[in-house]
Amino acid sequence: MTVLVTGGAGFIGSHFVKLLLKKNVDVINLDALTYSGNLENLKEVQKNKKYSFVKGNIQDPKTVNRLAKKCSAIVNFAAETHVDKSIADPASFIKTDVIGTHVLLEAARKNDIRMIQISTDEVYGSIPKGSFSESDPLRPTSPYSSSKASADLLTLSYVHSYGLDACITRSSNNYGPNQYPEKIIPLFTTNAIEGKKLPIYGSGKQSRDWIFVTDNCRAVDVVLRKGKKGQIYNIGTGKNVNNLDVTKKILRLLKKDQSLIKHISDRPGHDQRYSINNSKIRKLGWKPTVTFDQGIKTTVDWYQQNEQWWKKIKTGEYLKFYKAHYKKLGL
Ligand code: NAD
Ligand code: DAU
Repeated sequence: MTVLVTGGAGFIGSHFVKLLLKKNVDVINLDALTYSGNLENLKEVQKNKKYSFVKGNIQDPKTVNRLAKKCSAIVNFAAETHVDKSIADPASFIKTDVIGTHVLLEAARKNDIRMIQISTDEVYGSIPKGSFSESDPLRPTSPYSSSKASADLLTLSYVHSYGLDACITRSSNNYGPNQYPEKIIPLFTTNAIEGKKLPIYGSGKQSRDWIFVTDNCRAVDVVLRKGKKGQIYNIGTGKNVNNLDVTKKILRLLKKDQSLIKHISDRPGHDQRYSINNSKIRKLGWKPTVTFDQGIKTTVDWYQQNEQWWKKIKTGEYLKFYKAHYKKLGL
């Protein structure tokens, strides 16, 4: 079996590539190496004979078709993924997350292969209490989540209209080693190590269901092997932690003072709480294995031990967007 993994140089995709290789599956990784793609995430597998890397864009039908011909499945992680960036500049989200997914769906259809579309719990929108199931309506609120919801609908239409063998996974917030330091956990961990302020949007009472990245990758692998055609699978732990509690845990693990916390203006249209019901994926034999206390310790340790990985990122290109972004919000 050869799997075309797109976005395999990013955070979750790189963990997934390593999981497939461990299971002796052949992998072709197609990644455009945008700002969040990083081949250092894959340096331990780059010489593996079962692995090959192609630098290319999922919006390019020629490249995608050439690679899809050699594969029995596509797993699409490639996306623009940061909510704040989507609010500042949505165009690239529509291009990659919608048009890019369409190109992959066409390639899967033409070559009659399976496709797993990696989506997000954000497509359901915010829920004050309780949890969303897979049959709940989509109420995305940001350009990011709307572009992901559009890709979900396109995927389901390909199942319905063409009989494409596709599944969708909707996971909650991932965290772990190799996450680009724009998302809250790596941003706050690296800021705290550097003695910089941790910019909490608004009250900090917003909450997320945090899943350790390898738990999500195991679930995607289960869906790849056992997921039923046309089905959607939520992937989460079923437990929420609010942003202030996440932040305090990071500071405690790093033995840093809580005075580094700074409340700044809120994210526009900030979703207060995400929560998904994971009973459907559990029926396929999956369950989460890493508690938040274990996972956050592993993650904070990794960022402490891998300063060369993130220090390179937090200079140069990175500064352009984030300096302006946080200045506007009052940091
Ligand atoms: P990431 O930003 O770390 O990685 C995205 C990868 O996609 C990068 O390697 C980038 O170079 C590549 N890419 C972007 N545009 C591309 C294009 N046009 N062609 C080819 N490659 C392209 O993102 P991530 O956090 O690893 O997220 C991966 C997937 O999981 C995304 O689809 C995201 O929507 C979804 N997801 C993420 C989370 C999370 O908490 N991080 C949660 C649920 C779902
Ligand atoms: O729910 C899954 C989604 O989780 C994924 O689909 C997205 O790709 C991923 O980016 C993530 O979206 P969030 O917006 O939830 O993640 P982020 O890390 O950006 O923010 C998490 C929470 O922390 C959110 O309530 C906003 C808050 N936050 C974030 C940043 C970056 C802050 O308070 N300050 C910050 O500087």
